[in-house]
Amino acid sequence: MFNSAELLRRVPMLEGKFHYAQVLESSNDTAAALIRSGAGSGTIVLAEEQTKGRGRGGNQWVCPSGQGLLFSIVLEPDLDRSHWSRLALAAGVALAEVLDKAGLTTEIKWPNDIWINGKKCAGVLVEGCEDCVIIGIGVNVSVSDFPIGFNATSVWKESGYQIEREVLLADLVQPIIAWGSRCDADFESVVDAVNRRCAMRGEMIQLRQNGVSLSGIMAGVNKDGYLMLENDGKVQMIAQADEIRLLKS
Ligand code: BTN
Repeated sequence: MFNSAELLRRVPMLEGKFHYAQVLESSNDTAAALIRSGAGSGTIVLAEEQTKGRGRGGNQWVCPSGQGLLFSIVLEPDLDRSHWSRLALAAGVALAEVLDKAGLTTEIKWPNDIWINGKKCAGVLVEGCEDCVIIGIGVNVSVSDFPIGFNATSVWKESGYQIEREVLLADLVQPIIAWGSRCDADFESVVDAVNRRCAMRGEMIQLRQNGVSLSGIMAGVNKDGYLMLENDGKVQMIAQADEIRLLKS
């Protein structure tokens, strides 16, 4: 069971802002309900288990009880709404850096996945609610078995050790806030950090944009945080896409 007292010992500023639950439908939904009843920046909701955990594009996020770090953090960013999606990249950088400090080698699979050895280990889901942004993060911490066909892994499978979830969350809070605050004038630093660990860069990929299938070379992320898809020297900027995958030659 998650040790809330240990988290608060490590991050005292979360006192009164940290909400723990054994089971929730989705921590992002609970965070939204808290915002509507007055909660603000710095609120964190953590669940051992979610019955309706979700990812981008209506995908489900499934993780066995107690084996993941499933939480949502509320921010009130000084950022135009049209740029809120940048926070997914910023949170991804924070997550990648913290996991790397724990001895892993992560990549960011644009726009919101953390990969280790070509498999998904964590995901970020950014949603708006009133004047707040909810950054939902799911990390596979000690998951050992994944359903067949899932290209997924966990911290435990990749490193062989059980990282303490309290330590991981405590280590993540400040970096998420710090990288999140760079999404306006200093967004270039976020983009640079993404490009330094950008999965599939230089490889042929396929993706779906508004139901249309596109392919080309993944040429990294541009100054606006868009994926650059290159074909015959021409670069197309992709603001949103699904089903991004490597094209095997
Ligand atoms: C993705 O892979 O597309 C993003 C996954 C995000 C999952 C987390 S778990 C905590 C929070 N609550 C949710 O329902 N989703 C996010």
